[in-house]
Amino acid sequence: MLTLSIVKADTGGYVGHSAVHPDMVAEAQRAVDRAIQNGLLIDAQVVTCGDDLSLIMTHRYGRDSHLVHGFAWETFRATTRVAQDLGLYGAGQDLLSDAFSGNLRGLGPGYAEIEFEERPSEPVLCFLADKTEPGAWNLPLYKIFADPFNTPGLVIDAKMHAGFVFEVYDLYEDKRIEFDCPADLYDMLMFIGSPARYVIHSVRSKALSEAAAVTSTQRLSLIAGKYVGKDDPVMVVRCQSGLPSIGEALEPFAFPHTVAGSMRGSHHAPLMPVRLEDATPNRFDGPPRVVGLGFQIKDGKLIGPRDMFADPAFDRARAQANEVMDYLRRHGPFEPHRLPLDELEYTTMPELEKRLADRWSPLPAPAAEQVPAGEAASSVSGLRR
Ligand code: 13P
Ligand code: 13P
Ligand code: MG
Ligand code: MG
Ligand code: MG
Repeated sequence: MLTLSIVKADTGGYVGHSAVHPDMVAEAQRAVDRAIQNGLLIDAQVVTCGDDLSLIMTHRYGRDSHLVHGFAWETFRATTRVAQDLGLYGAGQDLLSDAFSGNLRGLGPGYAEIEFEERPSEPVLCFLADKTEPGAWNLPLYKIFADPFNTPGLVIDAKMHAGFVFEVYDLYEDKRIEFDCPADLYDMLMFIGSPARYVIHSVRSKALSEAAAVTSTQRLSLIAGKYVGKDDPVMVVRCQSGLPSIGEALEPFAFPHTVAGSMRGSHHAPLMPVRLEDATPNRFDGPPRVVGLGFQIKDGKLIGPRDMFADPAFDRARAQANEVMDYLRRHGPFEPHRLPLDELEYTTMPELEKRLADRWSPLPAPAAEQVPAGEAASSVSGLRR
Protein backbone atom coordinates (compact mmCIF):
# COMPACT_ATOMS: atom_id res chain seq x y z
CA MET A 1 0.00 0.00 0.00
CA LEU A 2 1.07 3.54 -0.74
CA THR A 3 0.28 6.44 1.57
CA LEU A 4 -0.10 9.99 0.33
CA SER A 5 0.20 12.39 3.27
CA ILE A 6 -0.23 16.13 3.23
CA VAL A 7 0.95 17.66 6.49
CA LYS A 8 0.69 21.43 6.79
CA ALA A 9 1.31 24.23 9.22
CA ASP A 10 1.61 27.98 9.44
CA THR A 11 5.02 28.50 11.00
CA GLY A 12 5.28 32.20 10.19
CA GLY A 13 3.85 34.70 7.72
CA TYR A 14 5.54 36.99 5.18
CA VAL A 15 4.19 39.73 5.32
CA GLY A 16 1.64 39.47 8.14
CA HIS A 17 -0.52 36.43 7.30
CA SER A 18 -0.27 36.71 3.51
CA ALA A 19 2.47 34.30 2.35
CA VAL A 20 5.42 32.07 3.28
CA HIS A 21 8.97 33.43 2.92
CA PRO A 22 11.07 31.69 0.23
CA ASP A 23 13.79 30.89 2.81
CA MET A 24 11.25 28.81 4.76
CA VAL A 25 10.27 26.92 1.62
CA ALA A 26 13.97 26.28 0.87
CA GLU A 27 14.52 24.99 4.41
CA ALA A 28 11.58 22.58 4.08
CA GLN A 29 12.74 21.52 0.62
CA ARG A 30 16.18 20.61 2.01
CA ALA A 31 14.52 18.56 4.74
CA VAL A 32 12.31 16.57 2.35
CA ASP A 33 15.23 16.02 -0.03
CA ARG A 34 17.17 14.45 2.86
CA ALA A 35 14.16 12.34 3.82
CA ILE A 36 13.86 11.05 0.25
CA GLN A 37 17.59 10.27 0.21
CA ASN A 38 17.50 8.35 3.47
CA GLY A 39 14.47 6.35 2.33
CA LEU A 40 11.80 7.65 4.72
CA LEU A 41 9.85 9.20 1.84
CA ILE A 42 9.45 7.90 -1.69
CA ASP A 43 8.78 11.40 -2.98
CA ALA A 44 7.73 14.78 -1.63
CA GLN A 45 7.04 18.35 -2.63
CA VAL A 46 6.82 21.56 -0.64
CA VAL A 47 3.95 23.85 -1.63
CA THR A 48 2.45 26.94 -0.06
CA CYS A 49 -1.00 28.51 0.00
CA GLY A 50 -1.08 31.88 1.75
CA ASP A 51 0.96 31.66 4.95
CA ASP A 52 0.61 27.86 5.17
CA LEU A 53 3.32 25.43 4.18
CA SER A 54 2.32 21.95 2.98
CA LEU A 55 4.52 18.88 2.73
CA ILE A 56 3.01 16.58 0.09
CA MET A 57 4.65 13.20 0.71
CA THR A 58 4.41 9.60 -0.50
CA HIS A 59 5.70 6.72 1.64
CA ARG A 60 4.98 3.16 2.85
CA TYR A 61 4.45 3.80 6.56
CA GLY A 62 0.66 4.21 6.57
CA ARG A 63 -1.43 6.88 8.25
CA ASP A 64 -0.47 8.40 11.62
CA SER A 65 3.08 7.07 11.28
CA HIS A 66 5.30 8.39 14.06
CA LEU A 67 8.20 8.46 11.59
CA VAL A 68 6.43 10.58 9.00
CA HIS A 69 4.62 12.80 11.50
CA GLY A 70 7.82 13.19 13.51
CA PHE A 71 9.66 14.21 10.35
CA ALA A 72 7.00 16.82 9.52
CA TRP A 73 7.11 18.14 13.09
CA GLU A 74 10.90 18.56 12.98
CA THR A 75 10.64 20.23 9.57
CA PHE A 76 8.11 22.74 10.91
CA ARG A 77 10.39 23.43 13.89
CA ALA A 78 13.17 24.18 11.40
CA THR A 79 11.00 26.53 9.32
CA THR A 80 9.91 28.20 12.57
CA ARG A 81 13.56 28.95 13.36
CA VAL A 82 13.95 30.53 9.91
CA ALA A 83 10.82 32.61 10.57
CA GLN A 84 12.19 33.68 13.95
CA ASP A 85 15.53 34.71 12.41
CA LEU A 86 13.72 36.87 9.85
CA GLY A 87 11.25 38.24 12.42
CA LEU A 88 8.34 36.91 10.35
CA TYR A 89 4.83 37.23 11.70
CA GLY A 90 3.50 34.53 14.02
CA ALA A 91 6.64 32.34 13.91
CA GLY A 92 5.60 28.84 14.97
CA GLN A 93 1.94 29.92 14.95
CA ASP A 94 0.42 26.44 14.47
CA LEU A 95 2.85 24.50 16.71
CA LEU A 96 0.71 24.35 19.83
CA SER A 97 2.93 22.06 21.86
CA ASP A 98 6.60 22.06 22.84
CA ALA A 99 7.04 18.34 22.45
CA PHE A 100 6.22 15.71 19.83
CA SER A 101 4.49 12.64 21.21
CA GLY A 102 4.08 9.85 18.67
CA ASN A 103 1.80 11.57 16.14
CA LEU A 104 0.52 15.02 15.26
CA ARG A 105 -2.97 14.67 16.70
CA GLY A 106 -3.76 17.69 18.85
CA LEU A 107 -0.38 19.32 18.24
CA GLY A 108 -1.55 21.92 15.71
CA PRO A 109 -0.34 20.94 12.21
CA GLY A 110 -3.15 19.73 9.94
CA TYR A 111 -2.91 16.51 7.98
CA ALA A 112 -4.84 14.54 5.37
CA GLU A 113 -3.60 11.03 4.65
CA ILE A 114 -4.92 8.47 2.18
CA GLU A 115 -3.80 4.86 1.74
CA PHE A 116 -4.30 2.93 -1.48
CA GLU A 117 -2.94 0.34 -3.87
CA GLU A 118 -1.52 2.38 -6.74
CA ARG A 119 -3.47 1.84 -9.99
CA PRO A 120 -1.73 1.64 -13.40
CA SER A 121 -2.65 5.29 -13.73
CA GLU A 122 -3.22 7.18 -10.49
CA PRO A 123 -4.43 10.78 -10.96
CA VAL A 124 -4.89 12.72 -7.69
CA LEU A 125 -5.80 16.28 -6.79
CA CYS A 126 -4.36 18.01 -3.73
CA PHE A 127 -6.37 21.02 -2.64
CA LEU A 128 -4.81 23.53 -0.23
CA ALA A 129 -6.76 26.42 1.30
CA ASP A 130 -5.84 29.45 3.36
CA LYS A 131 -7.96 31.68 5.59
CA THR A 132 -10.75 29.20 6.24
CA GLU A 133 -11.74 26.12 8.23
CA PRO A 134 -12.03 22.40 7.34
CA GLY A 135 -15.82 22.55 6.87
CA ALA A 136 -15.06 24.59 3.73
CA TRP A 137 -14.65 21.24 1.90
CA ASN A 138 -18.18 20.05 2.81
CA LEU A 139 -19.96 21.73 -0.07
CA PRO A 140 -17.48 20.78 -2.82
CA LEU A 141 -17.25 17.18 -1.52
CA TYR A 142 -21.02 16.90 -1.52
CA LYS A 143 -21.15 18.12 -5.09
CA ILE A 144 -18.29 15.89 -6.28
CA PHE A 145 -19.53 12.65 -4.70
CA ALA A 146 -23.28 13.10 -4.33
CA ASP A 147 -24.67 15.61 -6.83
CA PRO A 148 -25.38 14.30 -10.34
CA PHE A 149 -25.80 17.88 -11.60
CA ASN A 150 -22.08 18.26 -10.85
CA THR A 151 -20.91 14.70 -11.47
CA PRO A 152 -22.56 12.90 -14.37
CA GLY A 153 -20.46 9.83 -13.51
CA LEU A 154 -22.86 9.17 -10.63
CA VAL A 155 -25.51 8.46 -13.25
CA ILE A 156 -23.61 7.12 -16.26
CA ASP A 157 -20.54 5.34 -14.81
CA ALA A 158 -21.41 1.82 -13.64
CA LYS A 159 -18.66 1.92 -10.98
CA MET A 160 -19.98 5.16 -9.47
CA HIS A 161 -23.69 4.45 -9.68
CA ALA A 162 -23.80 2.62 -6.33
CA GLY A 163 -22.70 5.82 -4.59
CA PHE A 164 -20.23 6.78 -1.90
CA VAL A 165 -19.95 6.55 1.88
CA PHE A 166 -19.22 9.82 3.67
CA GLU A 167 -17.52 9.79 7.07
CA VAL A 168 -18.51 12.90 9.05
CA TYR A 169 -16.90 14.15 12.25
CA ASP A 170 -18.67 16.11 14.97
CA LEU A 171 -15.80 18.34 16.06
CA TYR A 172 -17.59 19.61 19.16
CA GLU A 173 -18.18 16.16 20.63
CA ASP A 174 -15.31 14.19 19.08
CA LYS A 175 -17.45 11.52 17.45
CA ARG A 176 -18.02 10.22 13.92
CA ILE A 177 -20.81 8.83 11.77
CA GLU A 178 -21.03 7.29 8.28
CA PHE A 179 -23.67 8.29 5.74
CA ASP A 180 -24.42 5.85 2.93
CA CYS A 181 -25.24 8.02 -0.08
CA PRO A 182 -27.46 8.47 -2.03
CA ALA A 183 -29.79 6.75 0.49
CA ASP A 184 -28.74 9.00 3.40
CA LEU A 185 -28.40 12.25 1.46
CA TYR A 186 -31.06 14.25 3.23
CA ASP A 187 -29.94 13.09 6.68
CA MET A 188 -26.36 13.99 5.89
CA LEU A 189 -27.17 17.46 4.55
CA MET A 190 -28.81 18.38 7.85
CA PHE A 191 -25.38 17.96 9.46
CA ILE A 192 -22.82 19.00 6.86
CA GLY A 193 -24.80 22.17 6.13
CA SER A 194 -23.34 23.35 9.48
CA PRO A 195 -19.67 23.18 8.53
CA ALA A 196 -18.28 24.82 11.66
CA ARG A 197 -19.25 21.70 13.62
CA TYR A 198 -19.80 18.81 11.19
CA VAL A 199 -16.95 18.14 8.80
CA ILE A 200 -16.59 15.47 6.12
CA HIS A 201 -13.41 13.60 6.99
CA SER A 202 -13.34 11.02 4.22
CA VAL A 203 -15.28 9.56 1.32
CA ARG A 204 -15.04 6.02 -0.03
CA SER A 205 -16.39 4.30 -3.11
CA LYS A 206 -19.00 1.61 -2.46
CA ALA A 207 -18.36 -0.27 -5.72
CA LEU A 208 -14.56 -0.26 -5.36
CA SER A 209 -14.36 -0.29 -1.50
CA GLU A 210 -11.58 2.26 -1.90
CA ALA A 211 -10.67 5.55 -0.27
CA ALA A 212 -11.63 8.35 -2.64
CA ALA A 213 -11.07 11.53 -0.63
CA VAL A 214 -9.77 12.69 2.72
CA THR A 215 -9.55 16.07 4.44
CA SER A 216 -7.63 17.60 7.30
CA THR A 217 -10.28 17.92 9.97
CA GLN A 218 -8.75 19.54 13.02
CA ARG A 219 -9.97 22.92 14.36
CA LEU A 220 -7.08 24.77 15.98
CA SER A 221 -9.30 26.84 18.26
CA LEU A 222 -10.92 23.68 19.65
CA ILE A 223 -7.45 22.22 20.35
CA ALA A 224 -5.94 25.37 21.83
CA GLY A 225 -9.10 26.63 23.55
CA LYS A 226 -8.44 30.05 22.03
CA TYR A 227 -7.89 31.68 18.64
CA VAL A 228 -4.54 30.82 17.11
CA GLY A 229 -5.34 31.44 13.45
CA LYS A 230 -7.65 29.58 11.09
CA ASP A 231 -7.08 25.91 10.26
CA ASP A 232 -6.47 26.46 6.56
CA PRO A 233 -7.37 22.89 5.58
CA VAL A 234 -6.10 20.53 2.88
CA MET A 235 -7.83 17.75 0.95
CA VAL A 236 -6.87 14.89 -1.36
CA VAL A 237 -9.23 13.54 -4.04
CA ARG A 238 -8.32 10.48 -6.10
CA CYS A 239 -9.77 10.56 -9.60
CA GLN A 240 -10.88 8.59 -12.68
CA SER A 241 -11.66 4.89 -13.27
CA GLY A 242 -14.71 4.59 -11.03
CA LEU A 243 -13.85 7.71 -9.06
CA PRO A 244 -14.82 11.24 -10.13
CA SER A 245 -13.00 12.54 -13.19
CA ILE A 246 -10.57 15.42 -12.74
CA GLY A 247 -13.12 17.77 -14.29
CA GLU A 248 -15.88 16.56 -11.95
CA ALA A 249 -13.64 17.11 -8.91
CA LEU A 250 -12.73 20.65 -10.00
CA GLU A 251 -16.20 21.73 -11.09
CA PRO A 252 -17.62 22.73 -7.64
CA PHE A 253 -14.92 25.39 -7.34
CA ALA A 254 -16.43 27.23 -10.31
CA PHE A 255 -18.87 28.46 -7.63
CA PRO A 256 -16.98 30.53 -5.04
CA HIS A 257 -19.11 29.47 -2.09
CA THR A 258 -19.08 31.44 1.14
CA VAL A 259 -16.96 30.12 3.99
CA ALA A 260 -15.90 31.25 7.46
CA GLY A 261 -12.44 32.78 7.72
CA SER A 262 -10.77 35.82 6.15
CA MET A 263 -9.94 38.71 8.51
CA ARG A 264 -9.13 37.46 12.03
CA GLY A 265 -10.81 34.17 11.11
CA SER A 266 -14.09 35.85 11.96
CA HIS A 267 -15.81 36.73 8.69
CA HIS A 268 -17.82 35.06 5.98
CA ALA A 269 -16.20 35.49 2.58
CA PRO A 270 -16.13 33.62 -0.75
CA LEU A 271 -13.60 30.87 -1.40
CA MET A 272 -11.64 32.00 -4.48
CA PRO A 273 -10.00 29.32 -6.67
CA VAL A 274 -6.59 30.67 -7.77
CA ARG A 275 -3.39 29.70 -9.52
CA LEU A 276 -0.45 29.06 -7.21
CA GLU A 277 1.16 32.47 -7.66
CA ASP A 278 -2.12 34.16 -6.68
CA ALA A 279 -2.50 32.22 -3.42
CA THR A 280 -1.73 35.32 -1.37
CA PRO A 281 -4.79 36.55 0.54
CA ASN A 282 -3.92 40.24 0.84
CA ARG A 283 -7.28 42.00 0.73
CA PHE A 284 -8.92 41.97 4.19
CA ASP A 285 -6.78 38.87 4.83
CA GLY A 286 -8.79 37.22 2.09
CA PRO A 287 -10.78 36.41 0.26
CA PRO A 288 -9.98 32.84 1.34
CA ARG A 289 -8.03 31.00 -1.36
CA VAL A 290 -7.93 27.47 -2.69
CA VAL A 291 -5.31 26.01 -5.01
CA GLY A 292 -5.67 22.66 -6.78
CA LEU A 293 -2.55 20.68 -7.62
CA GLY A 294 -2.84 17.75 -10.00
CA PHE A 295 -0.42 14.81 -9.86
CA GLN A 296 -0.07 11.51 -11.60
CA ILE A 297 1.51 9.05 -9.17
CA LYS A 298 3.83 6.41 -10.63
CA ASP A 299 5.69 3.94 -8.38
CA GLY A 300 5.01 6.38 -5.56
CA LYS A 301 6.59 9.29 -7.43
CA LEU A 302 4.67 12.54 -7.73
CA ILE A 303 4.58 13.44 -11.42
CA GLY A 304 3.57 17.10 -11.35
CA PRO A 305 2.09 19.29 -10.13
CA ARG A 306 -0.18 20.82 -12.69
CA ASP A 307 -1.69 24.04 -11.39
CA MET A 308 -5.33 23.13 -12.05
CA PHE A 309 -6.97 26.52 -11.37
CA ALA A 310 -4.53 28.20 -13.79
CA ASP A 311 -7.31 27.96 -16.32
CA PRO A 312 -9.30 30.89 -17.75
CA ALA A 313 -12.43 28.78 -17.23
CA PHE A 314 -12.16 29.74 -13.52
CA ASP A 315 -11.89 33.49 -14.27
CA ARG A 316 -15.63 33.97 -13.75
CA ALA A 317 -15.48 32.29 -10.33
CA ARG A 318 -12.68 34.70 -9.40
CA ALA A 319 -14.66 37.71 -10.69
CA GLN A 320 -17.72 36.52 -8.81
CA ALA A 321 -15.67 36.07 -5.65
CA ASN A 322 -14.49 39.68 -5.96
CA GLU A 323 -18.07 40.88 -6.37
CA VAL A 324 -19.29 38.87 -3.38
CA MET A 325 -16.35 40.19 -1.35
CA ASP A 326 -17.30 43.81 -2.21
CA TYR A 327 -20.89 43.11 -1.21
CA LEU A 328 -20.04 41.39 2.08
CA ARG A 329 -17.36 43.96 3.02
CA ARG A 330 -19.99 46.71 3.00
CA HIS A 331 -21.62 45.06 6.01
CA GLY A 332 -18.53 46.01 8.03
CA PRO A 333 -18.95 44.70 11.58
CA PHE A 334 -22.47 43.38 10.96
CA GLU A 335 -23.54 39.78 10.48
CA PRO A 336 -23.67 37.87 8.20
CA HIS A 337 -20.22 39.23 7.17
CA ARG A 338 -18.98 39.01 10.74
CA LEU A 339 -19.50 35.52 12.15
CA PRO A 340 -22.29 35.03 14.71
CA LEU A 341 -21.25 35.50 18.34
CA ASP A 342 -20.77 31.81 19.16
CA GLU A 343 -18.51 31.27 16.12
CA LEU A 344 -16.34 34.38 16.51
CA GLU A 345 -12.66 33.53 16.77
CA TYR A 346 -11.82 36.89 18.32
CA THR A 347 -14.16 38.46 20.80
CA THR A 348 -14.31 41.26 23.32
CA MET A 349 -17.78 40.12 24.43
CA PRO A 350 -16.98 38.49 27.81
CA GLU A 351 -15.00 41.56 28.85
CA LEU A 352 -17.77 43.88 27.58
CA GLU A 353 -20.46 41.91 29.36
CA LYS A 354 -18.55 42.29 32.60
CA ARG A 355 -17.75 45.97 32.16
CA LEU A 356 -21.28 46.92 31.11
CA ALA A 357 -23.09 44.61 33.53
CA ASP A 358 -24.37 47.41 35.80
CA ARG A 359 -25.39 49.62 32.89
CA TRP A 360 -28.06 47.21 31.72
CA SER A 361 -31.52 47.69 33.21
CA PRO A 362 -34.86 45.96 32.70
CA LEU A 363 -37.06 47.18 29.85
CA PRO A 364 -39.58 49.81 31.00
CA ALA A 365 -43.00 48.42 31.98
CA PRO A 366 -45.69 49.06 29.35
CA ALA A 367 -47.41 52.42 29.90
CA ALA A 368 -50.70 51.99 31.77
CA GLU A 369 -53.51 51.90 29.22
CA GLN A 370 -55.90 54.89 29.12
CA VAL A 371 -59.43 53.41 28.97
CA PRO A 372 -61.99 56.04 27.93
CA ALA A 373 -64.76 56.42 30.53
CA GLY A 374 -67.77 54.24 29.83
CA GLU A 375 -65.96 51.67 27.71
CA ALA A 376 -65.45 48.31 29.32
CA ALA A 377 -61.84 47.12 29.28
CA SER A 378 -63.10 43.68 28.29
CA SER A 379 -64.62 44.92 25.00
CA VAL A 380 -61.38 44.41 23.13
CA SER A 381 -59.22 41.50 24.15
CA GLY A 382 -55.64 42.63 23.94
CA LEU A 383 -56.07 44.63 20.72
CA ARG A 384 -55.03 48.28 20.64
CA ARG A 385 -57.18 50.56 18.56
P1 13P B 1 -10.80 12.09 -23.52
O1 13P B 1 -11.50 11.53 -24.74
O2 13P B 1 -10.19 13.44 -23.80
O3 13P B 1 -9.82 11.10 -22.94
O4 13P B 1 -11.92 12.35 -22.39
C1 13P B 1 -12.53 11.31 -21.73
C2 13P B 1 -13.42 11.74 -20.62
O5 13P B 1 -14.18 10.93 -20.12
C3 13P B 1 -13.37 13.13 -20.09
O6 13P B 1 -14.18 13.28 -18.94
P1 13P C 1 -3.99 32.39 9.43
O1 13P C 1 -4.72 31.28 10.12
O2 13P C 1 -3.85 32.16 7.95
O3 13P C 1 -2.67 32.68 10.08
O4 13P C 1 -4.88 33.70 9.52
C1 13P C 1 -4.99 34.31 10.76
C2 13P C 1 -5.75 35.58 10.74
O5 13P C 1 -6.22 35.98 11.79
C3 13P C 1 -5.91 36.35 9.50
O6 13P C 1 -6.55 37.60 9.73
MG1 MG D 1 -0.78 33.11 9.94
MG1 MG E 1 -3.03 30.52 7.07
MG1 MG F 1 -4.00 29.36 10.02
